[in-house]
Amino acid sequence: MATQLFEGKGHAAVYQKYRFAPGEELQQIILSYLKEKRTNPIELVVDVGCGSGQGTRFLAEHFKKVVGADISEAQIQEARDASSRPNLSYLVCPAEELPFEDGSVDLLTSFTAVHWFDIEKFMKEVNRVVKPCGCVAISTYTVDMSLHYGNCSEKLTQIFKETRDLIFKYSHSRVKHVLEDYKEIFEALPFQDKKRITDIFDKIPMTVAGVVGYFESVSPFQAYMKNEPEAAKTLLQETEKRFLDAMGVSSRETPLEFWVRHVCILGCKGP
Ligand SMILES: C[S@@+](CC[C@H](N)C(=O)[O-])C[C@H]1O[C@@H](n2cnc3c(N)ncnc32)[C@H](O)[C@@H]1O
Repeated sequence: MATQLFEGKGHAAVYQKYRFAPGEELQQIILSYLKEKRTNPIELVVDVGCGSGQGTRFLAEHFKKVVGADISEAQIQEARDASSRPNLSYLVCPAEELPFEDGSVDLLTSFTAVHWFDIEKFMKEVNRVVKPCGCVAISTYTVDMSLHYGNCSEKLTQIFKETRDLIFKYSHSRVKHVLEDYKEIFEALPFQDKKRITDIFDKIPMTVAGVVGYFESVSPFQAYMKNEPEAAKTLLQETEKRFLDAMGVSSRETPLEFWVRHVCILGCKGP
């Protein structure tokens, strides 16, 4: 069964504001793979579970026609509001019923989303819509992030982990796919030619406010807010204060680096 989270307008707005795009390392790995595998030009790219367009916008910088698809109208509205390019469009639809012809898609991508889908049905759709010799790139970032600032990186990362662990008590069971580095999702991809890379690291420039906003954007935090709103708000306020104290600064706009590990599944359909 698919899982419907991230759908509310409030959550979509927080998501758009605080979720980062695929970093340079991940982008390069996907682009190099396509260079290696594809001889024909890439005409149509579909980004499934595109949210507010974080990965879709990067794709539109490189390919002729890019369509972002998401089950949430609120996320798609945020994506449309964020960017308009003639080669980029969005549509609301479930990942398990993609409105594309058989064998019509050159590249199908999905960033940090497949664990929310009905994986069996989605993989059938992938196999149906991707062209012979077409490719897929499915990625997620993992939860073992670290924070870097001056000589207090270890302390900041420890605070980050403590807050993450409190919030992740409200995790959905599907987050297990992320904790297992997408192993099951990799096995479910019905292509012979495929690989899974688990050690892609991106250093994302952020601010203290951005890290706190990231926590606000994760689905377990939204569940925490529903169940214990006061405790959830207090946790974020205290986390921000602990970060600032550790750094010895007063502004929440102080920049720091957010290091993220990605897992990426790359596959090429047979002829
Ligand atoms: C964690 S967000 C990832 C968004 C974006 N790709 C990114 O990289 O930040 C997961 C997205 O998957 C969407 N989603 C969840 N289940 C879905 C389904 N069955 N079909 C299509 N989209 C779905 C959600 O609405 C949400 O926008």
